[in-house]
Amino acid sequence: MTSRFFLVYLLSTTLISPTTGADILSPNQSLTDDGQTLISTGGTFQLGFFGSDKRYVGIWYSKVSVRTVVWVANRRQPITGTSGSLSIKTNGTLVITDENATVVWYSSSRALANPVAQLLDNGNFVVRESGSNSNDPNSFAWQSFDFPTDTLLPGMKLGWNLTSGLNRNLTAWTSDSDPAPSEYTMAVDVRGYPEIFLWSRSTRTWRTGPWNGLRFSGIPEMKTYDKLSFDFVVNRDEVFYSFYVHDAAFITRLIVNQSGITQRLVWIEQSKIWNAFWFAPKDQCDKVSQCGPNGVCDPNESPICGCLNGFRPKNPSNWALRDASDGCRRKTELDCRNGTDGFVMVSGVKLPDTSSSVANMSLSLEQCRTMCLTNCSCTAYAAANISVSGTGSGCIMWTTELTDLRVYTNGGQDLYLRLAAADLGSESNPSHQRRIVVIIVVLAVMITLLASTAFCIRRRKKRRSTGMSGNISFSERYINEGGEGKDIDLPLFDLGTIIDATNNFSVHSKLGEGGFGPVYKGNLGEEQEIAVKRLSKTSVQGLDEFKNEVMLIAKLQHRNLVRLLGCCIQDEERMLIYEYMPNRSLDAILFDKAKVGLLDWRTRYNIIVGIARGLLYLHQDSRFRIIHRDMKAGNILLDKDMCPKISDFGMARIFGGDETEANTRRVVGTYGYMSPEYAMDGIFSVKSDVFSFGVLVLEIVSGKRNRGVYHSAPQLNLLGYAWSLWKEGRTSELVDESMGDSFPMAEALRCIKVGLLCVQDRPEHRPTMASAVLMLGSDGALLPQPTQPGFVATKGPLESDSSASKQDSVSVNDISITMVEGR
Ligand SMILES: *[C@@H]1O[C@H](CO)[C@@H](O)[C@H](O)[C@H]1NC(C)=O
Ligand SMILES: *[C@@H]1O[C@H](CO)[C@@H](O)[C@H](O)[C@H]1NC(C)=O
Ligand SMILES: *[C@@H]1O[C@H](CO)[C@@H](O)[C@H](O)[C@H]1NC(C)=O
Ligand SMILES: *[C@@H]1O[C@H](CO)[C@@H](O)[C@H](O)[C@H]1NC(C)=O
Ligand SMILES: *[C@@H]1O[C@H](CO)[C@@H](O)[C@H](O)[C@H]1NC(C)=O
Ligand SMILES: *[C@@H]1O[C@H](CO)[C@@H](O)[C@H](O)[C@H]1NC(C)=O
Ligand SMILES: *[C@@H]1O[C@H](CO)[C@@H](O)[C@H](O)[C@H]1NC(C)=O
Ligand SMILES: *[C@@H]1O[C@H](CO)[C@@H](O)[C@H](O)[C@H]1NC(C)=O
Ligand SMILES: *[C@@H]1O[C@H](CO)[C@@H](O)[C@H](O)[C@H]1NC(C)=O
Ligand SMILES: *[C@@H]1O[C@H](CO)[C@@H](O)[C@H](O)[C@H]1NC(C)=O
Repeated sequence: MTSRFFLVYLLSTTLISPTTGADILSPNQSLTDDGQTLISTGGTFQLGFFGSDKRYVGIWYSKVSVRTVVWVANRRQPITGTSGSLSIKTNGTLVITDENATVVWYSSSRALANPVAQLLDNGNFVVRESGSNSNDPNSFAWQSFDFPTDTLLPGMKLGWNLTSGLNRNLTAWTSDSDPAPSEYTMAVDVRGYPEIFLWSRSTRTWRTGPWNGLRFSGIPEMKTYDKLSFDFVVNRDEVFYSFYVHDAAFITRLIVNQSGITQRLVWIEQSKIWNAFWFAPKDQCDKVSQCGPNGVCDPNESPICGCLNGFRPKNPSNWALRDASDGCRRKTELDCRNGTDGFVMVSGVKLPDTSSSVANMSLSLEQCRTMCLTNCSCTAYAAANISVSGTGSGCIMWTTELTDLRVYTNGGQDLYLRLAAADLGSESNPSHQRRIVVIIVVLAVMITLLASTAFCIRRRKKRRSTGMSGNISFSERYINEGGEGKDIDLPLFDLGTIIDATNNFSVHSKLGEGGFGPVYKGNLGEEQEIAVKRLSKTSVQGLDEFKNEVMLIAKLQHRNLVRLLGCCIQDEERMLIYEYMPNRSLDAILFDKAKVGLLDWRTRYNIIVGIARGLLYLHQDSRFRIIHRDMKAGNILLDKDMCPKISDFGMARIFGGDETEANTRRVVGTYGYMSPEYAMDGIFSVKSDVFSFGVLVLEIVSGKRNRGVYHSAPQLNLLGYAWSLWKEGRTSELVDESMGDSFPMAEALRCIKVGLLCVQDRPEHRPTMASAVLMLGSDGALLPQPTQPGFVATKGPLESDSSASKQDSVSVNDISITMVEGR
């Protein structure tokens, strides 16, 4: 080693090596391939030769014990053998030479008079005038940050200098030992409204979606936090993405790996590994344009592809074979000149490809709508910056077909889709469209039945060993009837497991007491938390009937319904096992002065829309029309992201109610939420649920219970109070003061209006849930005027009426009641 050093020293008479540990390379020095390295001043990065038989000049972390190369100079021009060297010419050009002093790689920069090359502590290798400031990027004649390989370090820019045309992008290594560029690249596309794409050769494989002021539209989980923040800059000179680290001990980098996946890796010192903190693409729906133009991809559905509202498959026979690449077309062509087109809100989505859309950050969403409506080629619009409170600001406008749309369970955005008047009143849920397609493939489903039966048997065997005593599988009857193509395999838990999970139904595990029995929290092993509803023994129907109803409920799956995980039937016990919701129920937050602060306007609005969607699904989109009959704040559970989930649906079925509009012997419901016709005459229909929904909306907006009392109008309940404010044009006073005033009042007023429309006295005046969902997303001024609500006084007719024919079991605030009416 030493002798080799001297040999090099003797051979190169004018060039000597930099002192070990230096961070600067001067023109009178050279860095040779014998273990010499430059080390940045803070000791974070090291620059030198690496590789086995082929040698490369690269930069790696000097404090990370697993050699991790973050930049390579000569990734395409390796040197064979260890006689290469790196030096800087007197005019500032960096060169790598081989054994014959042939230049294999050089940097191109402007000529300098007195250059030095320096490895900075952020991992940037720069060339600058020797006297200049090493912290000033403008003084760099050349920098390695401008020529990334596969790694983006904090502070590096991924994107364009529009003046010089420099396009900084990441390209994966070919293999672990070969840094040569592979086919996978991640680059910013500056056409239209900029986005970042992953490429495989010339094919786009994934896109981030446009930046929405907070994150990329296609990375809903992206969040700035104390250690890490992000930036996406779009201006006349530059378009780039960058991230910053605010804790020196947090070592992270973004790479494109050899499988063509982009990953954020973080170094974990204890276990000495690079952990994948985040990666993309993740699921099928992340694949660019999985469902073709105007299609929507939903990974939680099967098949995953559907059409946007107002669209149908372009090529139904291919769709039936699960080839959605042709996408969808309009049911009714737009009728621009007549001015009858309108918009529907498609919420919770990744915004469509913006490569050919236009954006204007200075417009408001309202102006955006107008602009879209007046331009006949406009197909959709959306807010460009959602970090502005409320609906967001700025305007992205699409004038082409919408491609690469997908939905997210959480964190998606709202897109306003232009439709012809004829399609505006139609379904608001893309899954409806999907169902029509599914009916076409019912034959295919029947063929796969055999296979799925085999699968069930296998699953059943597997589950047994994990403490569940078996599964109920849907019988053929259900699958044919159901037509949704989903086989449900509902675990039957054994009593022992549930007793263990809930500490023998200990009081500490008890979450509360609903109208149908107590609810307990349980733990199945380390990870899975469950909620166990122990049905009151007396009220449950026969075993087979019970099983059938449970299977039916299990088939109802929607992101706004609490998921049923299984059931337990043993001896006298009947239990339903649900997923556990960490944020408990809405009433516990909404009506608690200490916690209501968690509910900003956006959260409240999302809760309202979520409940509306869940209810719409129960009423209309599920195969079986389910009327909830006990909609109330206590039955709205909130998951960890405050996404609302309706619970207790289908209970009326289990407890033996009939499901057609009819009189019922048993009134199940909660005072304050019951519609007049239901409470008084026991007549229920979907419109009774709409009434309860309206009460909920008003409660959510106002933060007050319907049965509370208001100083200004002590004789009125919330409905009466809201109605009196409405009549006097003072509706804004109803809005919960705890939200301050940084939210879009127009949206709140619209919700109140929808709430009032839903609580109208006459069921036939109330909208259906389908219209309610549409109304929530449309222009408030265009909604019909509400008429007087039912039950406006604190003393409802029920409470004053002591009719002997009614057997009134409970009447405490917000507790479900069960009444048996003699008929
Ligand atoms: C190399 O050049 C730098 C300035 O260009 C000077 O500071 C340094 O002393 C020189 N080293 C030797 C060994 O000549
Ligand atoms: C260097 O020169 C020798 C003699 O001309 C030749 O054999 C060898 O292949 C050259 N090496 C490289 C890397 O070009
Ligand atoms: C610097 O000098 C090298 C030769 O030593 C030459 O190839 C290169 O073009 C020069 N660069 C500039 C910017 O003049
Ligand atoms: C972009 O490139 C031009 C020309 O090379 C340069 O003058 C300008 O400083 C660069 N802009 C930024 C923000 O780096
Ligand atoms: C990546 O950058 C290189 C160099 O600027 C450029 O030639 C290439 O086209 C870019 N690739 C993509 C996909 O933008
Ligand atoms: C988005 O809006 C916020 C708040 O008004 C503003 O600070 C930010 O600069 C905007 N972002 C863009 C990209 O316009
Ligand atoms: C690329 O990243 C993905 C996601 O983290 C991982 O599953 C895959 O193994 C990685 N590929 C390679 C070659 O490291
Ligand atoms: C405008 O709409 C009406 C009713 O839908 C239709 O009969 C008429 O043809 C339309 N006019 C144009 C110019 O499309
Ligand atoms: C954005 O809209 C404003 C207001 O209509 C207009 O003055 C401005 O020119 C638009 N900007 C662009 C880039 O189109
Ligand atoms: C519609 O918008 C597109 C994109 O901004 C624009 O190119 C076109 O000229 C507009 N058409 C009309 C009629 O305004």
